[in-house]
Amino acid sequence: MSALELIETARALVANDKGLLAMDESNPTCDERFAAWGIPQTKESRRSYRELIVTTPDLGASISGVILYDETIREKKKDGTPFLKIIVDAGIIPGIKVDAGAKDMAGHPGEKITEGLDGLRDRLRGYAQMGARFAKWRAVITIGPGIPSRACVEANAQALARYAALCQEAGLVPIIEPEVLMDGDHPIERCLALTEEVLHMVFDELYAQQVMLEGLLLKPNMILPGLACPEQETVDEVADATVKCLLRAVPAAVPGIVFLSGGQSGELASARLNAMNARFRGRVPWALAFSFARAIQQPALEIWSGHEDKVDLAQHALSYRAKCNRAARRGNFPAAMEGE
Ligand code: 13P
Repeated sequence: MSALELIETARALVANDKGLLAMDESNPTCDERFAAWGIPQTKESRRSYRELIVTTPDLGASISGVILYDETIREKKKDGTPFLKIIVDAGIIPGIKVDAGAKDMAGHPGEKITEGLDGLRDRLRGYAQMGARFAKWRAVITIGPGIPSRACVEANAQALARYAALCQEAGLVPIIEPEVLMDGDHPIERCLALTEEVLHMVFDELYAQQVMLEGLLLKPNMILPGLACPEQETVDEVADATVKCLLRAVPAAVPGIVFLSGGQSGELASARLNAMNARFRGRVPWALAFSFARAIQQPALEIWSGHEDKVDLAQHALSYRAKCNRAARRGNFPAAMEGE
């Protein structure tokens, strides 16, 4: 795999105002979301739900790539068609989550370190042979009294860079996800300062480990006040703070920024992404795109709730949210959605 192919894949993932659909929930996370809606937590339920997602008509019109989970990349439709074939036939690029989850960090109460580096080279080779063209690794940074520690941010940044270097070696575009969580009552300024610091450490490590910036995508949080903060900024203020932070910390060689939604509602995530594109398009060096899970999937999951006769309606809801985010990339949300 040449550097050029990596660059082409990274660019293709943010081309044509499309973005990514994250459907890479681990089994425990997927089961947790099912439990909240009374859906049986079985392998067959997970398979049916993911069949609903990958067979959504016209998904490829708004979605450039989907992030799968180890169980899902091997999964098949009820009629035996592999999910991977359905995805590729829809013109969508398949990707894979390769971290082994954020675990309690020893000696650092309340903080997490993401595991999964051991044996990663072989796993990446296997996924690439199966047809994956990009990968994802999520680091989790929590804001709280006295945290995060420098040790936590550094350890996670180093792991992200080691993962990214191995991905590029295997011909997979790494999606680098250092997520500063929304939980807490901190003001937006704290999220901005900390996210800027985290991103600087991540890009320092990527540089030290000679990761090619043109062949990766960054998946950051938006800059938001804590969920429990009494002062909640407007959509435009969030857009301005987010772009300000990214301009300070993300090199121009990076082709795209694909935000996570992090628990924001679908409407808000689209509105904030829209404001960034409406206010800064043409004035930032990277594509401002999306890689949402909950902000695209949640209405569909609630409508489906495990009922076969609701599949069409749920697919309509999923497709609607995907289209909203494509409109947001054009700075055209919600106007473009009228009549949908
Ligand atoms: P959310 O959009 O639900 O935050 O999920 C994105 C993701 O892939 C988390 O790793």
